[in-house]
Amino acid sequence: MLLVGLGAVSTTTIAGVCAIRRGLALPIGSLTQMGTIRLGKRTEARVPRIKDFVPLAELDDIVFGGWDIFEEDCYAAARTAGVLEPAQLEQVRGELEAIRPMRAVFDRRYVKRLDGPNVKKGRNKRDLAEQVVADIRAFKQRHGCDRLVMVWCGSTEVYMKQTAAHATVATFERALEQSDEAIPSSMVYAYAAIREGMPFANAAPNLTADVPALLELAARTKAPVAGNDMKTGQTLIKTIIAPGLKARLLGVKGWYSTNILGNRDGEVLDDPESFKTKEESKKSALDYIFQPQLYPELYKDLCHVVRINYYPPRGDNKEGWDNIDLVGWLGYPMQLKINFLCRDSILAAPIVLDSALFLDLAKRAGMSGIQEWLSFYYKAPMHAPEVYPEHDLFIQLMKLKNTLRYMQGEQLITHLGREYYD
Ligand SMILES: NC(=O)c1ccc[n+]([C@@H]2O[C@H](COP(=O)([O-])OP(=O)(O)OC[C@H]3O[C@@H](n4cnc5c(N)ncnc54)[C@H](O)[C@@H]3O)[C@@H](O)[C@H]2O)c1
Repeated sequence: MLLVGLGAVSTTTIAGVCAIRRGLALPIGSLTQMGTIRLGKRTEARVPRIKDFVPLAELDDIVFGGWDIFEEDCYAAARTAGVLEPAQLEQVRGELEAIRPMRAVFDRRYVKRLDGPNVKKGRNKRDLAEQVVADIRAFKQRHGCDRLVMVWCGSTEVYMKQTAAHATVATFERALEQSDEAIPSSMVYAYAAIREGMPFANAAPNLTADVPALLELAARTKAPVAGNDMKTGQTLIKTIIAPGLKARLLGVKGWYSTNILGNRDGEVLDDPESFKTKEESKKSALDYIFQPQLYPELYKDLCHVVRINYYPPRGDNKEGWDNIDLVGWLGYPMQLKINFLCRDSILAAPIVLDSALFLDLAKRAGMSGIQEWLSFYYKAPMHAPEVYPEHDLFIQLMKLKNTLRYMQGEQLITHLGREYYD
């Protein structure tokens, strides 16, 4: 498993997997490790664990590697991130120290608040992509891996829109050659992985692999792709609460979300251009869940505000506040307040693990391109151009589980259930 960016999320994922496979901790939050799936009728009582139902890679078989602009090994990086307790990191220290970041493809133009020494040099972006491909192949050989998965866990890059450079593989490769500004570092990694036919996931809100050129390449190399921006913290709660309000046809006039966080991610997001990328990703969920075009009386005038405030004392322990102004029967107003004291990377780590394991499964099942069934994990799910993204967590879970049933030739579950009453 190759992770781009060995920061808070990556090191929490790696240290967690090391601890879990030694029996020191539980994989709480991971559907692949703890989830079950109902098969057939409710009367059949067939409910295996997902990991016993589909052939996922075993945690014991995973080898980790990655890139970062800082030279610290994974143990030192985990200490810097400050998510896990020092005593817990000590238990897996040897394994973490053995993971040293490869030199990164990095340009400050795309992440303004960071700079580091462990960076590749190259003639142009094409050359840098070739260097990443060489890293991937060397890693595979050194560790005797059968298969690889790449997950972008690097910082949020500045807001970018699709341009002509992203239109086809040919225009993209020309842009790489010319070191076109339209190709941020994350796209260089995505290109390298996808060209190698590797599954690729984007844990951040950047454009990254979500452009026609890279999807065309993925179709050619049969690489599955998923993203964007892991659904954790405030947005996770939003996509749990909003479908419930909508199901009961309660109107929503306003949804004000604010939060404080003090990790490096927060520092990067303190730059307005990186924040814009995050804001776009966070704001879309409510529009799609509430469907104001179908329910104008309930949601047309919804005022949705999202704020992220960098506040160093909190480190990775984010605090989010939501104020929801709702409307009930005859237009009477009500309010709902949510105060979530969460740990960002603790919520993110199981998503990185699950995404990697499911993408590897998809690759073996011959499923390539956008894996919409993994929308469950993402704030701004990748989707085909002709459909809108599905944001409702419960529909997403149903889609995910039905995809697993479909892969294994089991009957899909519609929840109709007439047979119990006929
Ligand atoms: N923690 C969460 O719950 C969560 C949720 C959704 C999305 N994300 C996103 O995941 C990403 C990682 O979050 P984090 O909390 O681990 O941040 P972090 O700042 O702790 O780690 C990011 C790491 O990426 C490195 N990096 C940046 N650009 C790079 C490049 N071009 N190549 C290699 N390394 C690079 C940085 O040096 C840093 O070590 C961010 O984009 C964040 O917005 C996090």
